[in-house]
Amino acid sequence: MTDEIVTDTQTAVEEQLVDNVVRSFDDCTDPRLKQLLTSLVHHLHGFIRDVRLTEAEWNAAIEFLTEVGHITDDRRQEFILLSDVLGASMQTINVANPACENATEATVFGPFFVDDAPRIDLGGDASGGASGQPCWVEGTVRDTGGDPVPGARIEIWEADEDGFYDVQYDDARVGGRAHLYSDDDGHYRFWALTPTPYPIPHDGPVGRILTATGRSPMRASHLHFMVTAEGMRTLVTHIFVSGDELLDSDTVFGVKDSLIKEFVEQPAGTPTPDGRDVGDKSWARTVFDIVLAPADV
Ligand code: BEZ
Ligand code: FE
Repeated sequence: MTDEIVTDTQTAVEEQLVDNVVRSFDDCTDPRLKQLLTSLVHHLHGFIRDVRLTEAEWNAAIEFLTEVGHITDDRRQEFILLSDVLGASMQTINVANPACENATEATVFGPFFVDDAPRIDLGGDASGGASGQPCWVEGTVRDTGGDPVPGARIEIWEADEDGFYDVQYDDARVGGRAHLYSDDDGHYRFWALTPTPYPIPHDGPVGRILTATGRSPMRASHLHFMVTAEGMRTLVTHIFVSGDELLDSDTVFGVKDSLIKEFVEQPAGTPTPDGRDVGDKSWARTVFDIVLAPADV
């Protein structure tokens, strides 16, 4: 904390620099780029001046970002994690997906989506052999007027019961992810795993920020969805498990009340909806009715 007194002369020097940098964009021919950079400079300089940033702190920040870059590769995206734990991902999602009537709310994408997940039929199994409690998921896809959306592509992905996505293992396994299509009435159903809590990768620089600020790396239990349909706004969201004690402290600020669902425990021996034999295991079931906003709002 600094008690530095900022004189009028000093303020004038600092403001002059902000003006100079902003004016350096005068000839930019891309109006949006000009707007983004101008605003960025105002906020960045505002931050530096507000906290009276030291040179040592600025250098530490640059070293930190350098480390974030070095640990990032095809399988690990530390910049996304950084954006997530600072709430920047969620804020961008809030801004880009304004509430639209009763449309399902969006939440954070995360780093574990993979293109070309296996296709399953309606009622198929998305677990791909990943470990966990079987969970029957069903619901509808509708537009905001209540009409069914047939043929919506529904992508789902989730961690196994040990808290890892398939891509976090060194082998080439594919599990806990799939895609399917809603039927003519907009209905869908599939088997997945009951979501369990897991930590975001926290063995890198982002993990150090969490430790330094006394924060947990844990995400509330969730199942990811991405739903696309012609003429509709793409929905990227999750459903969360009612009663999960991490709902109030999700480390990426992804929880929205409307996305918390009952996952109803079914004791071993309870008949399954499609007659599947789950052996001597208990299983769970949940319902997620999806409402898509039109693409143009
Ligand atoms: C996820 O839910 O997969 C996730 C989201 C943000 C950071 C890390 C993981
Ligand atoms: Fe996740």
